[in-house]
Amino acid sequence: MTYNLLKGKKGIVFGALNEHSIAWHVAEKAHAEGAELLLSNMPVALRVGTLGILAEKLGTIVIPADATLIPDLENLFAKAMEYFGSPVDFILHSIAMSPNVRKGRKYDDIDYDNFHKTLDVSALSLHKMLQVAKKAGALNTGASVVTISYIASQRAMPGYGDMAEAKAMLESIVRSFGYIYGKEQQVRINAVMQSPVQTPATSVVPGMAAIIDHSALTAPLGNAGADDCANACMALFSDLTSKITMQTIFNDGGFSAMAQ
Ligand code: NAI
Repeated sequence: MTYNLLKGKKGIVFGALNEHSIAWHVAEKAHAEGAELLLSNMPVALRVGTLGILAEKLGTIVIPADATLIPDLENLFAKAMEYFGSPVDFILHSIAMSPNVRKGRKYDDIDYDNFHKTLDVSALSLHKMLQVAKKAGALNTGASVVTISYIASQRAMPGYGDMAEAKAMLESIVRSFGYIYGKEQQVRINAVMQSPVQTPATSVVPGMAAIIDHSALTAPLGNAGADDCANACMALFSDLTSKITMQTIFNDGGFSAMAQ
């Protein structure tokens, strides 16, 4: 069922790699809710993923950008405003990567260059995106920015490695930038704290299937899937949540409120 929640809105979705990606579900749903979209991912992701198929399906274009690189982001927002003929109304930041987790480095045997990379890709990229967008005047008054977090930011979960610190930093950026951008331009910034789902990113997390089963059994409503995450994002992009900002909103079937 659709509600035309995003009719007349223009948005950028970062982080769809293939049909399993959370961002893919968000893009499809935003399109169905009436939004005009533009897609972005790293140049290499366009080769290894299937983002072109999504762009074709939604009748839009892809502008490649490495979200850790300021010139890429400057180019992206300039082109986005050219494409839409105006600033944008919403952004999905659905980006994360830990070289330590990918390489199976345990939390107490971390490579620190990799750790910096984890923080840069998975947390600072949100700050960079917001700072570049703000300087470029790329967000409309009242625009909504959503990023995706995970419970390991607030509870110990050793298998999640240095991504836990990245998510804690990400949630802090949501609050700190949310204050400034909200005060100056009514821009809302929130994180959706999402249940675990099998996606390209989680294929490298050790014991992921067991993590998914455990939270599904613990949560009274079961896990929130990628489609449920997309629904939460629709609400946050829409005008129905115009006073919700600087929050980490749990979309986890109740998992986080359980004593385990
Ligand atoms: P995914 O692998 O489909 O998405 C991650 C995306 O980040 C990929 O499209 C990748 O190309 C992109 N990316 C990596 N480095 C980048 C860079 N330098 N610049 C631009 N893009 C870059 O996996 P998923 O699971 O959909 O992840 C999306 C977000 O959801 C991530 O922030 C993840 O941590 C978060 N999340 C995922 C959960 C899950 O269980 N799948 C649970 C909670 C949060």
